[in-house]
Amino acid sequence: MSSPLFTPLALRGLTLPNRIVVSPMCQYSAEEGSANDWHLLHLGSLAVGGAGLLMIEATAVTAEGRITHGCLGLYSDANEAALAHVIAACRRFGNVPLGIQLAHAGRKASATRPWQGIRPLAAAEGAWPTLAPSALPLDAGWPSPQAASSADLDRVTDAFVRATERVERLGLDLLELHCAHGYLLHEFLSPIANHRGDAYGGSRENRMRFPLRVIAAVRKAWPNGKPLGIRISGTDWLEGGFTVEDAIAFVHAAKAEGCDYVCVSSGGIVAKAPIPTAPGYQLELAEHVRRETGIAVRAVGLVAAPRQAERVIVSGQADMVAMARAFLDDPHWVWHAAEALGARAAMPLQYERARADLWPGATLVRPLREAAE
Ligand SMILES: Cc1cc2nc3c(=O)[nH]c(=O)nc-3n(C[C@H](O)[C@H](O)[C@H](O)COP(=O)(O)O)c2cc1C
Repeated sequence: MSSPLFTPLALRGLTLPNRIVVSPMCQYSAEEGSANDWHLLHLGSLAVGGAGLLMIEATAVTAEGRITHGCLGLYSDANEAALAHVIAACRRFGNVPLGIQLAHAGRKASATRPWQGIRPLAAAEGAWPTLAPSALPLDAGWPSPQAASSADLDRVTDAFVRATERVERLGLDLLELHCAHGYLLHEFLSPIANHRGDAYGGSRENRMRFPLRVIAAVRKAWPNGKPLGIRISGTDWLEGGFTVEDAIAFVHAAKAEGCDYVCVSSGGIVAKAPIPTAPGYQLELAEHVRRETGIAVRAVGLVAAPRQAERVIVSGQADMVAMARAFLDDPHWVWHAAEALGARAAMPLQYERARADLWPGATLVRPLREAAE
């Protein structure tokens, strides 16, 4: 039996061994933007778990673009050296393709770590000024960001390019730009956060201008053979907000700038929106974007079961499935999905003793555990 979830996918010069992606997940554990041994443990364990692609968390292109004091960055030589150490371990023991998500948090920057309760940092906690398309706070109680000047836009574009050069020096396989969840590039796209009166605000074409400028600049700095993707919020789920029609127009334009795939998420432009969360609630958006644009699509959001993920691929809703919390719950999700779907996934030699098909006569751990319940 062959499983469509476990078939390879080519994105430019990169071939993913299967369609399962470890979604980018902030760990809020970096120091001054630099990765440490937590990242080595976290990414290291996922790098040997058999996924088709492992995404490194949202990584800020400037210090002010971090969400929290614990967010990863790629804006200094120290950041680059620290991440090189983590990547070397992932490469030594695993062979999963490695991608990274570059981001700027916009008006959502200067916040506490989620486990401290999501709120803006106080001055005594080291708050910093934030930047956004317009001086509109995220919510009551949040500070007003500075409306980006044209010099700010030049500086941020340049920071995305410098970070891209670092990503290339680190030898990563794939680069993604965070245009979702209410962070800076999404803030430009959404009429909720973008009230500018210049060439970067107003009409849909104007709201797309800055994210497209960043995409074009990054594409130029990123090797031609390597895939570039974007993550978008397919809708703000708000009256007067960014819609799936806006998303389709943006993806068409991003594709024309050399984007190879889009990950369709949703929401995040305001602190509270009526999001209809339910299993696979973003899949329809993914399918819609895929049908209208023909770009490779990664679906995400409340997908956690192997057969559910398989259906996404078989039904043509998406080309890849990303999961976040399922991997926190079970870093060996891919091995268990392979077992359920009759497929094979990469596994380190050190762990093969758990599999009877590789070690004939070995006691299978899971049936043994289930029988002993
Ligand atoms: C701990 C955690 C950290 C996250 N960090 C990021 C991130 O860095 N970038 C991003 O685009 N999404 C981030 N997300 C969102 C996930 O990538 C994913 O889109 C979301 O959790 C829905 O997928 P799931 O239902 O499989 O968890 C994060 C989610 C979690 C749970």
